[in-house]
Amino acid sequence: MIGHAPPAGGVTTAPLIQFEHVFKTFVADRRSVPTLDDVNLSINADEFLAIIGPSGCGKSTLLRLLAGFTYPTAGTVYCYEQPVTAINTRVGFVSQENDLFPWMTLLHNVEYPLLARHVPSKERTERARALIDLVGLTGFESSYPHQLSGGMQKRASLIRTIIYEPAIILMDEPFGPLDAQTRLILQNELLNIWSSRHMTVLFVTHDLVEAIALSDRVVVMTKRPAHIKAIVDVPLQRPRDVFEIHDQQGFHETHHHLWQLMSSELGLQAPRAGGPPRQGSTDGGPNARQ
Ligand SMILES: Nc1ncnc2c1ncn2[C@@H]1O[C@H](COP(=O)(O)OP(=O)(O)O)[C@@H](O)[C@H]1O
Ligand SMILES: [Mg+2]
Repeated sequence: MIGHAPPAGGVTTAPLIQFEHVFKTFVADRRSVPTLDDVNLSINADEFLAIIGPSGCGKSTLLRLLAGFTYPTAGTVYCYEQPVTAINTRVGFVSQENDLFPWMTLLHNVEYPLLARHVPSKERTERARALIDLVGLTGFESSYPHQLSGGMQKRASLIRTIIYEPAIILMDEPFGPLDAQTRLILQNELLNIWSSRHMTVLFVTHDLVEAIALSDRVVVMTKRPAHIKAIVDVPLQRPRDVFEIHDQQGFHETHHHLWQLMSSELGLQAPRAGGPPRQGSTDGGPNARQ
């Protein structure tokens, strides 16, 4: 594995996750689609990592490789220092789609991963109710997904992933379809959950403001075939107030830097420093869907 020489004192601290010279080419209709082109990335335990890049560059593919849903054409993805060669049971996945079972109540949806792991009924219900309470859904245990708002469904998906306590959570534009206010509330809840548990999060987003508000580092990918263009440290202190993130020290500089990196990938002119649009705005600025 690359990039983790033993620090002074001789104790080796291997990264939790490592992409080592990862290439991925899809073949569709007898046409090769080179997607990832020598991706190298190390992620430490308990880190919150955001991933941004042009649409279609391979962000979801990166998560799917770590989840073991697909495999590299060349190179290796390591998790806990082991190559990922099968479905990775250490990870939980939250996607943009509504993935709740429509025929199950909220409580049964949230309990389901524990049922699949043969956890006794009483413990299942207790753990599910505690998480339902944590995200403010108490009173809706008997509701079916279609009776819940988009934000409530997303909360349910999130706690259904968290309930079996995966060490790593992969989130693929999870809040994409939600309105701006609901997104902020869910970002805040996610940060609260992340900071109170040992969890490593890889969070794909098209929203630079969201990436800054949540993460420790932002990985910027190039257009396809993608490699990592830059990894930007987010200097904002924690705990963060996602509702006032623009006022936090270091926000504007980080946003400007990221937008410069992204705009050249998108073939756009980078704006001058200062005055980025608010989260969720649709004015064609950095928050606009790519
Ligand atoms: N299963 C697949 N078969 C063929 N091509 C795929 C498959 N999955 C992804 N691709 C292609 O790989 C590229 C990257 O896809 P994806 O990882 O979904 O991008 P992103 O998430 O950055 O928008 C796209 O060109 C997409 O069409
Ligand atoms: Mg995607």
